[in-house]
Amino acid sequence: MKTEIKNMKTALITGASSGIGKELARIHASKGGNLILVARRTDALEALKEELESTYKVQVSTFTQDLTQAHAAKKVYDFVNHSGLEVDYLMNNAGFGGHGNFVDRPLEKDLEMIQLNVTALVELTHLFLQDMKERGYGKILNTASTAGFLPGPLQATYFATKAFVVSFTEGISYELRNTGVTVTALCPGPVKTEFEHVAGLEGGTMFDKGASAYKTAKSGYDGMMKGKVIQISEFSFAFLIKMVPFVPLKMLSAVIEKMQTVPKK
Ligand SMILES: NC(=O)c1ccc[n+]([C@@H]2O[C@H](COP(=O)([O-])OP(=O)(O)OC[C@H]3O[C@@H](n4cnc5c(N)ncnc54)[C@H](OP(=O)(O)O)[C@@H]3O)[C@@H](O)[C@H]2O)c1
Repeated sequence: MKTEIKNMKTALITGASSGIGKELARIHASKGGNLILVARRTDALEALKEELESTYKVQVSTFTQDLTQAHAAKKVYDFVNHSGLEVDYLMNNAGFGGHGNFVDRPLEKDLEMIQLNVTALVELTHLFLQDMKERGYGKILNTASTAGFLPGPLQATYFATKAFVVSFTEGISYELRNTGVTVTALCPGPVKTEFEHVAGLEGGTMFDKGASAYKTAKSGYDGMMKGKVIQISEFSFAFLIKMVPFVPLKMLSAVIEKMQTVPKK
């Protein structure tokens, strides 16, 4: 008789209430893993908990937290410890973008973006990494973007946050070699999620052929399990990114600006 080998590892996923994070949660639960789901929308987290616990017989904890708030990462870490849980896989996935010329955008919005896409990710990584290193085991998946390899006119701060995530992941993954802990950056192109609406990019053409959240999450999850440092979720983008150093910056910037231009509201 074939015995099913269950993956009992516990994964903490930020931004699990929608899009890529929700699919990462479904994939992990389908392998028998327990979950800690973090985002701001309690209802969405509770609905996902119910779905996963009844479908896969796993244990799911939820923690409602706005990760742009001061001490948010520490609150998440304290919740995990007070609940007697251990995080084997940390998936720093929560993030958002924002359309417009940098100079015309409200500065607070871009600072909030840096707080979520960069600061919360760094803080959570630092907190959970200590325990992972001590245990000699752990996997971290940071949702970056192919934007992290490109100039980003009309989303300059967003692209810069993702460049940070790519570089940060590359740096610490090397520092952590031989520790049993791996760090992976998932780099998708456009994906059909709530991202487009939240970023104010609706009406453009960039997401017309966007990838599915499931396919993207599956690629990231598999990359994380293999301990890859950079996981570009689509083959065509992996090829295009390799070409970037050979394209003049001005030409590349013009293409990105055109791609991100949306009709005036
Ligand atoms: N979609 C794309 O084209 C694309 C491409 C490349 C990379 N990415 C990256 O993929 C990641 C996931 O995005 P997605 O495409 O799945 O978009 P999404 O559907 O908008 O999901 C974003 C998630 O982040 C959470 N979130 C947003 N602000 C938060 C805050 N202040 N505190 C805590 N959680 C917060 C949201 O939950 P609540 O609203 O409930 O808080 C939601 O669960 C992001 O890092 C994004 O930059 C997306």
